[in-house]
Amino acid sequence: MSRFSEPQDPIFARLNASIGYDWRLAPYDIAQSRAHASMLAAQQIISVSDRDQLIAGLNQVEAELDSGSFVFEPSDEDIHMAIERRLTAVAGPVGGKLHTARSRNDQVATDVAMFVRAHAGQAAAQLHQLMAVVVELAEGHIDWPMPGYTHLQRAQPVYLGHHLLAYFWMFSRDLGRFGSVVAATDHLPLGAGALAGVNFDTDRRAVAAELGFPSIAENSIDAVSNRDFVLDYLAAAATCATHLSRLGAEIVLWSSEEFGFCEVADGFASGSSIMPQKKNPDAAELLRAKAPRIAGHLVALHGVMHGLPLTYNKDMQEDKEHLFDTVDTLELCLAAAKGMLAGIEFRSARLAAAAQDELLAATDIADLLVRRGVPFREAHGVVAGLVALAVGQGRTLSQLTPEEIAAQSTHLDAEYYEVLSQGRWLESKASEGGTALARVREQLEHARALLAASV
Ligand code: ARG
Repeated sequence: MSRFSEPQDPIFARLNASIGYDWRLAPYDIAQSRAHASMLAAQQIISVSDRDQLIAGLNQVEAELDSGSFVFEPSDEDIHMAIERRLTAVAGPVGGKLHTARSRNDQVATDVAMFVRAHAGQAAAQLHQLMAVVVELAEGHIDWPMPGYTHLQRAQPVYLGHHLLAYFWMFSRDLGRFGSVVAATDHLPLGAGALAGVNFDTDRRAVAAELGFPSIAENSIDAVSNRDFVLDYLAAAATCATHLSRLGAEIVLWSSEEFGFCEVADGFASGSSIMPQKKNPDAAELLRAKAPRIAGHLVALHGVMHGLPLTYNKDMQEDKEHLFDTVDTLELCLAAAKGMLAGIEFRSARLAAAAQDELLAATDIADLLVRRGVPFREAHGVVAGLVALAVGQGRTLSQLTPEEIAAQSTHLDAEYYEVLSQGRWLESKASEGGTALARVREQLEHARALLAASV
């Protein structure tokens, strides 16, 4: 029997169906159904023999799904109905008992929470591997001078190891965010029923324990309405993808002949169909380009959820494609970033040549004046005068004569030339977190300790 006297319009069926993508929830749906059937029997809501038939049937459906022999039918609106249909076909009418004390509303929330939990763990594992690669790369280039940039203008020199470690800390924050995503999935929705709870003496905590949820959702209305864990995953992924895009952007710039700072391995580059000389850093370009796609998924799901009245609304079916595409995109990007960095070659000569630009020592000359009692603002003006003089005549700062520098400030003497000798501008940045080698080594140790503590 059905409440309806007319069949579904095929156009509506297409709009309404989620089977085209929610088949990915199948392993979680089967696992929760086994746990649910066990609980129903333990609570004497169904018999032990019913439970055994249900679990045997679910195992068979799982095997069919795993082997690809499961045949989806046009009437399968979503994965939950497809599994129940097939279960009833293989196990007989007992299949109809599985949905006792359960609604698709708490069922889908549970599947999605399990999916998010698994993939937040996967992102964390991949981030950990990427951070290990960054640490190795930083150690291998710990004392290679290069210009540091602001506004993409040469600013102050740094060591390449220091620059690379900046990404380590970005990724470590991402790792923390994915840890919070896991925590956001801690509360089992199942048992909430359609929205109000169920008419049976269920044991939600037993189901939670079997499925690996530390606790249960306290409020059945919240349980079926909540998709915060999806928003949290998308937010963590969007920030992580933004970090990867900044890495990608730097590698694109640095591997151009204009910079010439690095070359990506052949395995992560492509050629041109017309220009034989080309080696394009496509992997880095795509890391750069994928971030807004993920940010778009986050914004889209906020759009779906905002203003939705409690509890379940069909709108919420739209969480899945945003989530699945984000998972696929992010996991691929994390793997690509790791592979690309593992094979990258840096060019010491080009980095060193760029780092020898004496203008990078302008702040250091100003600080020399400060140490001699000149207020920083005034010192800044003096050095600006020296830079204008040198640049205007096509000379370097150290080519200015003792008379010329003394004319700008009586506080300048021979030490001016010493400051311009390169090691000093790097090694004088000895504040905590600065670029002096001892500080970078210290930072590297902290990074290694964090990695070891977060396995
Ligand atoms: N495919 C649906 C979704 O993803 C499952 C839940 C359907 N619930 C309902 N009351 N129609 O949201």
